[in-house]
Amino acid sequence: MQEIIIKKVEVEDIAQLQKISCVTFAQTFEEHNSAEDMEAYLSTSYATEKLIAELNNANSEFYFALDDAIVVGYLKVNTGDAQTENKDSSAFEIERIYVDSAYLGKKIGQLLFEKATELAKAKNKPYIWLGVWEENHRALAFYQKNGFVPFDKHIFKLGNDEQTDILMKLDL
Ligand SMILES: CC(C)(COP(=O)(O)OP(=O)(O)OC[C@H]1O[C@@H](n2cnc3c(N)ncnc32)[C@H](O)[C@@H]1OP(=O)(O)O)[C@@H](O)C(=O)NCCC(=O)NCCS
Repeated sequence: MQEIIIKKVEVEDIAQLQKISCVTFAQTFEEHNSAEDMEAYLSTSYATEKLIAELNNANSEFYFALDDAIVVGYLKVNTGDAQTENKDSSAFEIERIYVDSAYLGKKIGQLLFEKATELAKAKNKPYIWLGVWEENHRALAFYQKNGFVPFDKHIFKLGNDEQTDILMKLDL
């Protein structure tokens, strides 16, 4: 593994973004969900037009983690109206931190998280929040290790299956 580079994702990177989004979502959730639900989720949530619109939204930013130019993880953060809920104008959302399964446990998630913290502080945001599936024990441990505490719950629909996300926040 080379030194990991964190790079802002631009619209021309759409193909790589779509690929890492689908690969890492499937790696994380396919064992818990039906193939139909997974397919429905990937084809709508990571549709090319949807990702392009998100890349063009001034209130959203994506970053890649690159190992020698290979995309091994990514981050998506939101402010203002781009937040998925809790549209507190002073808040900062980490919507996604995903690392390719071959690279888990190598502190790449930590680098992406530190990038998010740097962005939130630069925007003078008082806190960061995120939603994480209650059965995603690895991510829960990661966020707890980084100081996040639970503050609410919401229902997340994956295909026809309703699942509970825990909302967590970190005061900056
Ligand atoms: C959550 C995630 C981003 C963390 O990234 P990472 O690069 O693996 O994280 P790091 O190497 O910096 O930290 C690993 C931490 O994960 C947790 N962890 C690692 N392996 C674990 C395991 N087998 N079981 C439970 N927790 C584990 C620990 O808290 C560990 O910290 P430690 O090394 O100090 O003990 C990454 O695991 C990931 O992409 N998971 C799949 C996608 C996902 O669930 N994203 C979050 C959606 S909300």
